[in-house]
Amino acid sequence: MGQGTPGGMGKQGGAPGDRGKPGGDGDKKDLRGTPMSVGSLEEIIDESHAIVSSSVGPEYYVGILSFVDKDQLEPGCSILMHNKVLSVVGILQDEVDPMVSVMKVEKAPLESYADIGGLDAQIQEIKEAVELPLTHPELYEDIGIRPPKGVILYGEPGTGKTLLAKAVANSTSATFLRVVGSELIQKYLGDGPKLVRELFRVADELSPSIVFIDEIDAVGTKRYDAHSGGEREIQRTMLELLNQLDGFDSRGDVKVILATNRIESLDPALLRPGRIDRKIEFPLPDIKTRRRIFQIHTAKMTLSDDVNLEEFVMTKDEFSGADIKAICTESGLLALRERRMKVTHADFKKAKEKVMFKKKEGVPEGLYM
Ligand SMILES: Nc1ncnc2c1ncn2[C@@H]1O[C@H](COP(=O)(O)OP(=O)(O)OP(=O)(O)O)[C@@H](O)[C@H]1O
Ligand SMILES: [Mg+2]
Repeated sequence: MGQGTPGGMGKQGGAPGDRGKPGGDGDKKDLRGTPMSVGSLEEIIDESHAIVSSSVGPEYYVGILSFVDKDQLEPGCSILMHNKVLSVVGILQDEVDPMVSVMKVEKAPLESYADIGGLDAQIQEIKEAVELPLTHPELYEDIGIRPPKGVILYGEPGTGKTLLAKAVANSTSATFLRVVGSELIQKYLGDGPKLVRELFRVADELSPSIVFIDEIDAVGTKRYDAHSGGEREIQRTMLELLNQLDGFDSRGDVKVILATNRIESLDPALLRPGRIDRKIEFPLPDIKTRRRIFQIHTAKMTLSDDVNLEEFVMTKDEFSGADIKAICTESGLLALRERRMKVTHADFKKAKEKVMFKKKEGVPEGLYM
């Protein structure tokens, strides 16, 4: 295996996004956008060389990049490695257990069903598929059917998928484990399958529990082209996920919720009967639902008398729930900027323009929220 000459590292293929933030300047800069993998340090040879082993197996003689703090390197410690040349680019502190930061054990998210406008059918379905089997497994036994292992929530961005999953977590006393698919892949390249295994192990240990994998499309894409290391890694993570889904009994007390806004790009294997075969669609809100979502998000705002939300409820523009929330927040900010105590109709109008404009420009949601 080659040595890590810092200057020779360009951008490599693989999943997009930032991984492990090498940051800084000089050769650190070259690392931006490069996938990292996690390995362990076997032996330090000299100032700039070491023997490392990767999570996949063999040991390699590699370079240590100049900016790595040599004092902290000791045999056995976890390190971050460049994913192609495997040179040591960083040290993982022992206390920082990678699992802890990926899996947020959210015992009680704040969101509840009352915060959701509309989506009655979706709430009903998720209750039957996820909550009821956990709280009343005997009902399924009596009737003689197996409860589903879980559900997949799909639909356009900002339509309340994450919100509903959190509300479910809030309404059961089950442990709620949340992982974001892209984090699984991007932050812990090389350890994706291990993290998936670990996730289900913890879920079993802390059961009854709900495993929520948000943005599953980062992991579960169709498996046709797998040339770069990053894609193979995604495949391995995906295979492990299928493996875990097959491995647990649907009568048990672990339920899985997946969420995506690109269901068509998902590997059909994931959605086959016996795995996650219950699909719940999240449409853009209709007029009645829009009205309800406006009510929810303006409930705590001080509105001036001239505000006529109906104008925005009845508009022909397409809004998602997240857009509505953004409009409310933005109009509040406009009032705040002029130190006004009440939000006016003009604020809402301006806010709507701004939100619609940003949406058209393709500014990712979240940047204007
Ligand atoms: N039906 C709704 N009722 C009330 N608020 C909503 C609704 N839908 C969306 N929102 C608001 O929009 C925000 C973003 O929604 P959420 O994160 O659930 O979207 P999502 O469907 O998970 O989108 P993405 O596919 O982009 O992950 C929520 O935090 C909530 O404030
Ligand atoms: Mg979401």
